[in-house]
Amino acid sequence: MLIPLAFAGSFALSAYAFYLPGAAPSNFAKGGQVDLFVNALTPMFSGGNDAKLKSLINYDYYNPKFQFCPPEGGPVKQSETLGGILFGDRIFNSPFDIKMLENNQTCQDLCKSTVDPESARFINERIREDYALNWLVDGLPAAEMKVDLRTGETFYDIGFNLGNDDESFEEVPALNNHYEIVLRYTIPFSNTPGLFLHPFARYHEYSPGVYRIVGVLVWPYSIGGDQDGAATCDTDNVNSLVLSESSTQTVRYTYRVTWNVSSTPWATRWDNYLKIADPRIHWFSLVNSIVIVIFLLVMVSMILLRSVSRDISRYNAIDLSEDVQEDFGWKLVHGEVFRSPSRPMLLAILSGNGTQLCSMVGVTLVFALLGFLSPSNRGSLATVMLVFFSLFGYIGGYVSGRLYASLGGTDKRKNAFLTATGLPTLVFMIVFLLNFFLIIANSSGAVPFGTLLVIALLWFGISAPLSAVGSYFGSKHGAIHHPVRVNSIPRQIPPGPKYLRPWSAALLGGILPFGAAFVELYFVMSSLFASKAYYAFAGVMGVTVATVSILFTYFMLCAEEYRWQWRSFLVGGGNAFWVLAYGIFYWVSRLSLDSFASVALYMGYLILLALLDFLVTGAIGFLASYWAVRRLYSAIRID
Ligand SMILES: *[C@@H]1O[C@H](CO)[C@@H](O)[C@H](O)[C@H]1NC(C)=O
Ligand SMILES: *[C@@H]1O[C@H](CO)[C@@H](O)[C@H](O)[C@H]1NC(C)=O
Repeated sequence: MLIPLAFAGSFALSAYAFYLPGAAPSNFAKGGQVDLFVNALTPMFSGGNDAKLKSLINYDYYNPKFQFCPPEGGPVKQSETLGGILFGDRIFNSPFDIKMLENNQTCQDLCKSTVDPESARFINERIREDYALNWLVDGLPAAEMKVDLRTGETFYDIGFNLGNDDESFEEVPALNNHYEIVLRYTIPFSNTPGLFLHPFARYHEYSPGVYRIVGVLVWPYSIGGDQDGAATCDTDNVNSLVLSESSTQTVRYTYRVTWNVSSTPWATRWDNYLKIADPRIHWFSLVNSIVIVIFLLVMVSMILLRSVSRDISRYNAIDLSEDVQEDFGWKLVHGEVFRSPSRPMLLAILSGNGTQLCSMVGVTLVFALLGFLSPSNRGSLATVMLVFFSLFGYIGGYVSGRLYASLGGTDKRKNAFLTATGLPTLVFMIVFLLNFFLIIANSSGAVPFGTLLVIALLWFGISAPLSAVGSYFGSKHGAIHHPVRVNSIPRQIPPGPKYLRPWSAALLGGILPFGAAFVELYFVMSSLFASKAYYAFAGVMGVTVATVSILFTYFMLCAEEYRWQWRSFLVGGGNAFWVLAYGIFYWVSRLSLDSFASVALYMGYLILLALLDFLVTGAIGFLASYWAVRRLYSAIRID
C-alpha cells in the first residue's frame, strides 16, 4: 500500500511542482541588467572515480587574500535566509556587467588585480585543494557542463574550478583568470506546464520581448603571458598563468558572455542540475530495497503475532481449566515489566526530545513532498526544520512529562526544565565549538553571531516555553494506565543469551534499519531534491525501527529479562552507531582532509548527526515497545 501511494503521490506532485513566493520567474527585457552574484568558495571532489574531498572549509569570495575584483563601491552582502546562512551561503554582488542579449561574444575586462607573494601562496594552496567558485545568476548556480561517462548524458556540475593543478600540465598550479560564460535563455510561453498552481505570478501573459534565464554555464581558462596589455580572451593561448610566490604581480581578469537560446522551459530549468546519475538505476535499487525491507517486516511481524497469540491463548486456557499450572515465558515477569527503570528522568527527556525531532522530520518530509523545498529556495530546508523544531517544543514537553510520570518519576519541575533546555544547549555547545574552529581557520562558513542569536531566540524564546507548557499538561494528564501491577519484591533475572545484552542488542538491532535507509545515503544526499520517492525511505525506516525493537523486547521478556525500557531505546537507536561507523569509513575512503579544522568540522557534524539520529530512532523504538508491552499484558489474565 505504501509504495504505490508514495509513487502515485510523487508523480502527481512532480507534474505540478510549484514554488514558494520569491521564487517566481524573473523576466528580462532585451538590454535588461542581469546581476551575477558570488557565493563562498567551496572545496570540491576531484580526480575521477575515486574522487576525494581535501577540505571542508568555505572562504568568502572577497576574502582579501584571493584578490578578486571587487565591484565599484565595495562588495555588498545580499540578504539570505536563516538556513542559507547555516549552510554556508555568503552572497555578494560582483562587478560583472551583463545585459540580456547584449555584448554577445565580446571580450570584456573585469579588472587588473595585484597579487602579493603571501596571497599567491594562499591561492595556490586553495587550487591544490580543488576549490571551486560558486556564482549565482537569477537564482541559478553557475555550473560546468559535464558528460556522464556511463550514460553519455550531459549534466551540469555546480561550481567551477578556481585553478588547475592537473599534474599533466607542466606548470602547476595555474590560476583561472578568464571566464567563458554561456547564459542559456528561453522565450516564455503562456502554456508552460506545471505553473498554473502558482498563486502569486501572472503566467498567462505572453509578452514578446521578454526572456528568462534557464541555464548558467562557465568554462574557466587560465591565460598567461603579458597581463598588462589589452584583453584578448584568447582561450587557445597555451601559456597558463602560474602565480609567483616570490614577487608581486598583476593578474588580468577577463570574461566573455555568450547568449544561447534553449528549449528548456523555465519550470524545469533545475532538472539539468539535478541529473546526477542514471535515474533508472536509482529507481531500481530504491524499489528493490523497499520491497526487501517490507517483505522482511511483514514476515517478522507475522511470526511475532502468531507466537504472541499462541502464548496468550495458552496462558488463558490454563487459567480456565484451573489445573495446577506452571507459568512460563513472558507471563512470568508480569509483576516486573512496569517497574521503574533506572534513571527514568533521562529516559523521559531523551524520548521527549526524540519525539520532538521526529515530528519535525515528519513535517519537513511532507513539505518536501509537496515541493516546497525546491532548490530554488536556497536554504529553505534548514529554515523549515528550525522553525518546526521550535514549534514542536510542545510535543517534546508533553511526551517527556507524561512518560516521566508513567515511569514513576516525581521531580516534575526538574524534568520540564531539562527537557526544554538540555538538547538545545548541547547542540549549541557543539555548534559553538565548530564555529570556533571555523573562525580560527578564517573560514566564511562560521555562523555569524547575529544568526546564532536568532537561533538562540527561536529555541530558548519559543521552543523552551512551549516545551514547559507541554510538560505541564503532560504531567497533569498523569501516568499512562498499566494493565498489570508491579510486585513489591523484584524478581531475580536469570542469565540470558549474549545477544540480548544491551550493547550487542543495540548493534544487532541497528543493522536492519541502517541497511534499509543508509546504504542509499549517498544517493539520498546527492539527489535530496530530485526524487521525492526517497522520502518513502524515512517512513520505511521508522517502521523498521519500531518492528525491530518490539521484536527484541519480546525476546527479552521471554528470557525473563524485564528491564526492557532502556534496552528498547538502545535497540531503536542502534543504527546511530552504524551511521557513525559509516561516517568514519567515508572519511577514510572518500575524504583526504589535511587540516585539523576540517577534521574537527567533519567529526563534529558526524557526531551531531549520529546523536540526533540516536534520539529520533531511540524514541521510536522505546515508544513502540511501550505500546506493545501494554497491549501484550492487557491481553492475559492475571489471578
Ligand atoms: C551569440 O553569438 C553566438 C556565436 O557567435 C551565436 O551562435 C549566437 O546565436 C549569438 N546569440 C545571440 C542572441 O545573438
Ligand atoms: C548552444 O546550444 C546548443 C543546443 O541548444 C548547443 O549545441 C551549443 O553547444 C550551445 N552553445 C554553447 C556555446 O554552449
